[in-house]
Amino acid sequence: MTTITNVRTIEGDTISLAVETPQDRIIDANGCVAFPAFIDPHVHFRVPGAEQKETWETGARAAIHGGVTTVFDMPNNNPPCTTVARVHEKKKLIESQLQTAGIPLRYRLYLGADSASVDEIQKAKDLIVGIKVYLGSSTGNLLIDSQETFERICEIAARCGIVVAVHAEDESLMQQNVLRYGNADDVSYHSKIRTRDCATVALERALAATKKYGNRLYIVHASTAEEVAMVRAAKKEGINIFLEATPHHLFLNESIYPSLGTRAQMNPPLRTAADNEALWEGIADGTIDTIGTDHAPHTLAEKNQPYGKTPSGVPGIENYLALLVHAARQGILTYDKIVDLTRSNVERIFDVPANNDIVLVDVERSKEIKNSDQFTKCAWSPYAGMTLTGWPAYTILGKNIYPLV
Ligand code: DOR
Ligand code: ZN
Repeated sequence: MTTITNVRTIEGDTISLAVETPQDRIIDANGCVAFPAFIDPHVHFRVPGAEQKETWETGARAAIHGGVTTVFDMPNNNPPCTTVARVHEKKKLIESQLQTAGIPLRYRLYLGADSASVDEIQKAKDLIVGIKVYLGSSTGNLLIDSQETFERICEIAARCGIVVAVHAEDESLMQQNVLRYGNADDVSYHSKIRTRDCATVALERALAATKKYGNRLYIVHASTAEEVAMVRAAKKEGINIFLEATPHHLFLNESIYPSLGTRAQMNPPLRTAADNEALWEGIADGTIDTIGTDHAPHTLAEKNQPYGKTPSGVPGIENYLALLVHAARQGILTYDKIVDLTRSNVERIFDVPANNDIVLVDVERSKEIKNSDQFTKCAWSPYAGMTLTGWPAYTILGKNIYPLV
């Protein structure tokens, strides 16, 4: 048994924690604040097919260092995770890599929707956390551009009680913009190709199907004020819709393009400071339910190519706790709200069983984010150079205590 003394609760009380470890020990937490360990409902750990970017060995280490003990992994792998057989194969690879890492990270997998394997959804229902639909193409080749197929998916998901997670960018609008700007060689065009209209038109499509079939709809990575307003209105109407925001759409905007270049390229793209503001308002009033990092590692060699050749995506899992706690210290949100966004709401929306995992956060510790300190295999962060106060000191996953400093 390990006794952890001198732990502060979010409410400000001082308590001790007991963890059932094989050895007897006492750890002085020195006033660290205990948060329920985070669940990241949106990661791309790249297995199988892109292990040069991330594996479950490196991804699990990054997660633990970010205070995360549960991840939901996306299906845009190579081959994409679109069948029951591929879910099983992927799980086998994951189990073996977690074994090597010595970290029993908790995880759930999304099934990817593609028009050839819609029938797999029902067969996979007890194996998966949800069905992921790309209404616009992104990394990988998963795409549902036909509304008819999308509606079929929503109908099956409603029947099976499965969450439909939607990447809401409209493919045909994007293709029109590609024709216009296809030769662009500057990353700022990314926001002109993947316009805010692409997001709102796709969200309209998702809402229309959900109104028809009554499935649970989870919109990933909201980027615009309009999406927040639309979801706010849809919730008032009683639609079963949930909204996720990423750390990068909350903390970064287009003004970072000159300094970050294609390291700031992701789908959907960065927007304006006013959109950052609208997302924070969505968090304050409960329109935004969760934070998903969309941890989408790509190597620097891949990211350093000219715009047009570069893949979209940024890593995020190991720094978002600090971004959120730092923001809370500045009065932008409360510790309780952090718990809602990173744990309680995720458990409720996806119906995942509760656990006792905890992250102990040293809310006084300031640290500069450096690429060389990252545990993700891609070894860089879009937040490099930022100094944040409030870092995880211990992550407790089941009976395992991971000291982080
Ligand atoms: O920026 C992104 N990267 N958006 C996505 O939708 C996919 C992700 C990836 O897998 O690289
Ligand atoms: Zn994603």
